[in-house]
Amino acid sequence: MSTATAQSHPNIAFIKYWGNRDNTLRLPMNGSISMNLDGLYTRTTVSFQPSLPFDELIINGHEIAGAGRDRVSYILDIVRGMANIHERAEVMSENNFPSGAGIASSASAFAALALAGSKAAGLNLSDQELSRLARRGSGSASRSIPGGYVEWQVGTSDEDSFAFSIAEPNHWNLVDCIAIVSTSHKKTGSTEGHSIAGTSPLQAARVADAPRRLEICRDAILNRDFNTFASILELDSDMMHAVMMTSTPALHYWKLASLEVMNCVRQWRSEGIQVCYTVDAGANVHVICHQTEVLSINKRLREIRGVEDLLLAHVGGPAKIVENGD
Ligand code: PMV
Repeated sequence: MSTATAQSHPNIAFIKYWGNRDNTLRLPMNGSISMNLDGLYTRTTVSFQPSLPFDELIINGHEIAGAGRDRVSYILDIVRGMANIHERAEVMSENNFPSGAGIASSASAFAALALAGSKAAGLNLSDQELSRLARRGSGSASRSIPGGYVEWQVGTSDEDSFAFSIAEPNHWNLVDCIAIVSTSHKKTGSTEGHSIAGTSPLQAARVADAPRRLEICRDAILNRDFNTFASILELDSDMMHAVMMTSTPALHYWKLASLEVMNCVRQWRSEGIQVCYTVDAGANVHVICHQTEVLSINKRLREIRGVEDLLLAHVGGPAKIVENGD
């Protein structure tokens, strides 16, 4: 029996990935930039066992069958092919944060699976190979392999569509204050969302403008230029939601409380506070600020009606193998 355990953080995209040019390989329409979320994690143990007739998946203590398990088997099949092994695996995974509510649990899940699965199969993949493997499970998972601030380059094929660090976690002490306005599972997941992104007449314009937004965001991070960073973040998030709302079928992820938080954040910034928002495929609002602003932002967010809870995340490191007892 060969076993390995890996742990990885989810990430929040600053420049979003929405839409694939190849849905099977998950090759994106545009590059994206994110930061890993420290303190939130998925921890996954993969053990290949000769006695198992099929792969088993257990998430937070519950056995999962059907499409969720098939998606895991798809990654394990790639790993088995690379390692030339045939054993099925038991996959035990735990998240310490709510899944399915716009906090990208699939990103940390597939990054941890790629690392633990390849290690358990006896492979020693490079970070680029791991990022490509994680991408096949969930595009954003490619960005949870490297640490800190990360860019996933659009690439030309499977070989060069991977993510890499553009700055270490301690480069800039940003914090993601996640305003939880809903913990219910969203109706339309991102896999389906990507496949209909092209039905929005706005998607072509969003994609064509992506290299410009990527450059502005990358430079703003490298120069720690918060005001430029804030404007491009909000523009990019609003552009993605404009595409979502105008696709067929239309996807409306925002709730009233999401809008309330976004309005407040814009208001606070106009008063001189360095704070901005971004929203993934869910209702929760990721409020990004510098560490020095966290206490005041938290207090203000808690006063907004409809904000049920707050999660705080500093910039996180890369996916890693954990030994027993870590
Ligand atoms: O990796 P997926 O298929 O869950 O897609 C992620 C999509 C967004 O979270 C909305 C944007 C992003 O770049 O993370």
